[in-house]
Amino acid sequence: MKEKVRISVLVSGRGSNLQALIDSIENGSLPGAEIVQVISSRKGVPALERAGKAGIKGVAVSKEDFPDERSLADELLRALEDEKTDLVVLAGYMSLLHQDVIKKYLGRMINIHPSLIPKFCGKGFYGMRVHKAVIEAKEKVSGATVHFVEAGDVDGGEIILQREVPVEEGDDENTLAARVLAIEHEILPEAIRRIIT
Ligand code: GRF
Repeated sequence: MKEKVRISVLVSGRGSNLQALIDSIENGSLPGAEIVQVISSRKGVPALERAGKAGIKGVAVSKEDFPDERSLADELLRALEDEKTDLVVLAGYMSLLHQDVIKKYLGRMINIHPSLIPKFCGKGFYGMRVHKAVIEAKEKVSGATVHFVEAGDVDGGEIILQREVPVEEGDDENTLAARVLAIEHEILPEAIRRIIT
């Protein structure tokens, strides 16, 4: 039998995209993949609870436990290698990765971003700031993008999948974020299916 693609999911908080992946694997719509671990940049976050509930190993590799970026990067690399990671999925990972980590997994690391890249991405565009900027710019559409992660460019890298949602009259960043999040949950498993099959 063909071995499954071993995915490490990197998170920082709520973990709803992680949950979408767990659900896709459990309901059989993402055959050929398994989540071997969840690594969080913060301790005690809901994403780690979700991992625990699904019986997946969860660890926090947090800045506060490491004296410098080098030692944090070494710990991340060790954790990824220990689990023989084939694919790294950044699912709401809010910390900047050391270039060595990105380089090691070049072509094997993907990220989900809550806008239509190249719009509203890059430095300063994270979390609710993205949706706020979209509303302020009076955009008619927004969306989400799954892309490969490239060294030196946060939201650069080849786009794997992108889907639009309308920006409705009267939207604020919260209503828009909810609409975008719903499609993030669709395109993240779909993008993984595309790259592993
Ligand atoms: C998502 O909107 C993702 O695109 C962004 O951070 C959010 C994380 O949400 N990078 P969750 O932790 O997956 O619920």
